Amino acid sequence: METAPLLKMSQISKTFPGVLALDKVDFELRRGEVHVLLGENGAGKSTLMKILSGAYQKSSGEIELDGVPVSIKNPRHAQDLGISTIYQELNLIPHLSIAENIFLGREPSKFASVIDQRALVRAARELLKGLGLTVDPSARVKRLGIAEQQMVEVAKALSLETRILIMDEPTSALSQQEIKQLFATIRRLKEGGVSIIYISHRLEELFELGDRVTVLRDGRSVATCEVAETSKPELIRLMVNRELTEQFPKRQATIGEEILRLEGLTTSGLRDISFSLHKGEVLGIAGLMGAGRTELAQAIFGVEKIEAGQIYVKGKARRITSPRRAINCGIGFLTEDRKSQGLVLRLSVGENLCLPSVDKFTSWGMVDRNKEKLACRRYIQELRIRTPSLKQKVSFLSGGNQQKVVLGKWLCSEAEIFIFDEPTRGVDVGAKTEIYELMDRLTAEGVAIIMISSELPEVLGMSDRVLVMRSGEIAGEFSANEATQERVLQCALMA
Ligand SMILES: Nc1ncnc2c1ncn2[C@@H]1O[C@H](COP(=O)(O)OP(=O)(O)OP(=O)(O)O)[C@@H](O)[C@H]1O
Ligand SMILES: [Mg+2]
Repeated sequence: METAPLLKMSQISKTFPGVLALDKVDFELRRGEVHVLLGENGAGKSTLMKILSGAYQKSSGEIELDGVPVSIKNPRHAQDLGISTIYQELNLIPHLSIAENIFLGREPSKFASVIDQRALVRAARELLKGLGLTVDPSARVKRLGIAEQQMVEVAKALSLETRILIMDEPTSALSQQEIKQLFATIRRLKEGGVSIIYISHRLEELFELGDRVTVLRDGRSVATCEVAETSKPELIRLMVNRELTEQFPKRQATIGEEILRLEGLTTSGLRDISFSLHKGEVLGIAGLMGAGRTELAQAIFGVEKIEAGQIYVKGKARRITSPRRAINCGIGFLTEDRKSQGLVLRLSVGENLCLPSVDKFTSWGMVDRNKEKLACRRYIQELRIRTPSLKQKVSFLSGGNQQKVVLGKWLCSEAEIFIFDEPTRGVDVGAKTEIYELMDRLTAEGVAIIMISSELPEVLGMSDRVLVMRSGEIAGEFSANEATQERVLQCALMA
């Protein structure tokens, strides 16, 4: 007799007001497998996992663990059943130590005493060692990088005797090196018998890591297959149910006059940055995490204090001391951190879209609501933003759709210089192509784009010119023809 799968979710449905997020989804998990959940933005991946982890209640359907029906009441209950989740936004408490974070909420009475503090540290050290991590367990979490914090979350999950570990887009904020480290950890967990549900928009990761894959589309499960028996084109077809063209569009813009110039720009983190940007140009900025790419974007947008140097917009020296001034100079900034800087979560999709462009829709002191609505509708359609209406709160949209709203918001504003910081982070394959095509259209209209991205293929595929940053300085410049993966990487890494 075949043993029951570790987990069986059958006919799971979930409705939110105006949204059928999941429609009779089936999902099965075997012991010790890495099972990838794949699907477009808004397909229902996170919702399904939130039901499993007790964060949401299902509207209907059955869940079985080891062949036994369970009803998961809340996150604590899920934990007791051996189900843990690592979200993209981490849940650690910054000013507590690593050890305290790992054991937080358990044995609270002993927690305060010095002796047990020591036992705590010892236990934490064991767990961390098992993960190949050598950090000091009594160090404060706020001193750790994102990758290390994620490892602490994994250690915490292990200490809870997790049998099912859910990872929702764990790599989207990690560097190449850190991703390798995470993958090694995942393999080790798997050998230890832990089953992993892994959500990612990066198909390469699926082929490197996954045993099986389940594809969701529009809230339905459309297929489950062995990774070894499927292919990228097949998965894309299952996911989007339409033909996708070549990933990077043939760029059609002609490069025009200079629109932005930096001379010797220096801030607390940047040294002596000089370059110019032209109409119709995509200037890619490559570099490792911490190389100063985001600081550069922030300096141009008036967020970072400029200590020396000068910014010229259309040949005129400009003092950009606030985002407001940057916007007045025709600069738009798509931030990498959409939650804290890009969106107002309590406002609606429509309000967010129109935020930086109120002036545009105002004549004689009156806001033209119809004009506003039309513009919003256009971007919702162009970017395929999945929302029941303009009035929906952005906080209810899926991660990738929130990213698209940030993008749409700047497109509405008619800026002439765009800074895109990780524009395709967390968006699905189809939307990626659409964003690339949009960039192409924008530049064809004479807009200039600075694109910061950690995905080298994207930088190489889209840029007319690539600047490589290293420790707050420009370490090299390559034309589109000269820029290869090896050259750019070498330049970014050189000590
Ligand atoms: N709390 C909520 N209230 C209303 N609608 C919601 C809520 N949570 C999710 N939704 C909707 O449910 C659908 C599925 O969202 P979900 O977050 O599961 O997508 P996803 O597959 O994880 O997408 P992404 O790849 O963008 O993260 C979306 O249409 C989303 O807007
Ligand atoms: Mg999601």
